[in-house]
Amino acid sequence: MSHDTQTINRLDKDHHLHPWQIFDVFRDEGALPIARGEGCYIIDSDGNKYFDAVGGLWCNNIGLGRKEMAEAIAEQALQMSYASPFVDLTNIPAAKLAAKLAELAPGDLNRVFFTCGGSTAVDTALRMIHYYQNCRGKPDKKHIISRINSYHGSTYAAMSIGGKPGDHPPEFDYISDTIHHLGYPNYYRCAAPGMSEAEFVDSLVQEFEDKITELGSDKVAAYFAEPIMGAGGVIVPPEGYNKRMYEVCQRHDILYVADEVVTAFGRLGHWFASEAEFGFVPDMITCAKGLSSGYQPLGALLFSDTIWAVLDAADSGRCFAHGFTYSGHPVACAAALKNIEIMERERLLDNVKEVGPYLEQQLKTLEDLPIVGQVRGRKLMVCVEYVKDKATKALFDEELDIGKRVSNHADALGLITRAIVHLNVMSPPLTMSREDVDFVVSTLRQAIELTIADLKAEGLLD
Ligand SMILES: Cc1ncc(COP(=O)(O)O)c(C=O)c1O
Repeated sequence: MSHDTQTINRLDKDHHLHPWQIFDVFRDEGALPIARGEGCYIIDSDGNKYFDAVGGLWCNNIGLGRKEMAEAIAEQALQMSYASPFVDLTNIPAAKLAAKLAELAPGDLNRVFFTCGGSTAVDTALRMIHYYQNCRGKPDKKHIISRINSYHGSTYAAMSIGGKPGDHPPEFDYISDTIHHLGYPNYYRCAAPGMSEAEFVDSLVQEFEDKITELGSDKVAAYFAEPIMGAGGVIVPPEGYNKRMYEVCQRHDILYVADEVVTAFGRLGHWFASEAEFGFVPDMITCAKGLSSGYQPLGALLFSDTIWAVLDAADSGRCFAHGFTYSGHPVACAAALKNIEIMERERLLDNVKEVGPYLEQQLKTLEDLPIVGQVRGRKLMVCVEYVKDKATKALFDEELDIGKRVSNHADALGLITRAIVHLNVMSPPLTMSREDVDFVVSTLRQAIELTIADLKAEGLLD
């Protein structure tokens, strides 16, 4: 199928407001139309092919263009494309998927509420927390604690819980009276000089305790955290941090919401990362993305039997007045079931355990380049941070858009990475091979070298 790129660009520019659209840039440059996908590759409307090391947006876990997925989706659409999930109706894929998720989830997280994506799963978690605290007679327990630089989505509540300064421009409004942000576990950037990793963790745990004391533990309802921060710059917390923050929650009757929208469904080699990678079972898990590998929009909130027992108290006469027309959408749930079946059959989690450490190790070799301050990440969730001066860790001016400069060169070399200010972030499909890793690392090296040459030519680097 051929596409007229100019026409698509014009239609898009004239009528389509994009998420995170930067108006001044978009007006001139528009957006790159992606026409096709095949495994780890995307193909634009002019036929150029790129290795998509971003996996869409942390979501293309099983690879693009799978016939089996298309068939499962088509079959479900023909069989029953939509049924209301409200009150006392359900559908077959939703019931089966809820049971499958309960089987895969850690601990007693046996209950599932389906949403349209990650943000609505986070919103649902917040509404359920309010409901739960009211039901158990603790109506004052409503404050939420999260972290600077966290990302939890883009609805009003999810964006307010998130803490990325760049995502809180002053033109938007946010909930601020009941949401509080702690420091985040970036040892490279945030630890005081001379502080060991263990001391850094102690300081973060103490900050959490202090915040609870300030607000009163009878006022704090829940703590939201990504096991590894994604959009905030792939921050792998130091050893013991996640578990100790969980223990603080336990001590103060605070619900722990693990936002696993990125980390679930294989990115770290497990169905869910909280217990398997970090050794604790949260009270709630939000997930989306890899749940359906982006073949259909779908998210879910998983929550414990303990919470369920409060909601479901006998003879309460209550109604859980929350939900979406497309909660448990049959076609999306059928896609998720097939996606999980493929991951199991092809042992993709094992591939991540094998190829992931190789990606970490090979990418680390880029640290010999003069503008690479740190390469970090775990398995198939990785990031390169650029600095002007390695010794002082000084950053380039934001206007320079260093991550974008590198990713523009990488694009031209056939590699898609995600630029976030000083960073290039990657979350490739779980099907990635060792040869793919070699291509990604050598191409990114080339893109960084070309960027260094540009900076020198422009007198911006010695
Ligand atoms: C950790 C986390 N939570 C929530 C979301 C929001 O998910 P969605 O964009 O599907 O609403 C994202 C999206 O990137 C995310 O990374």
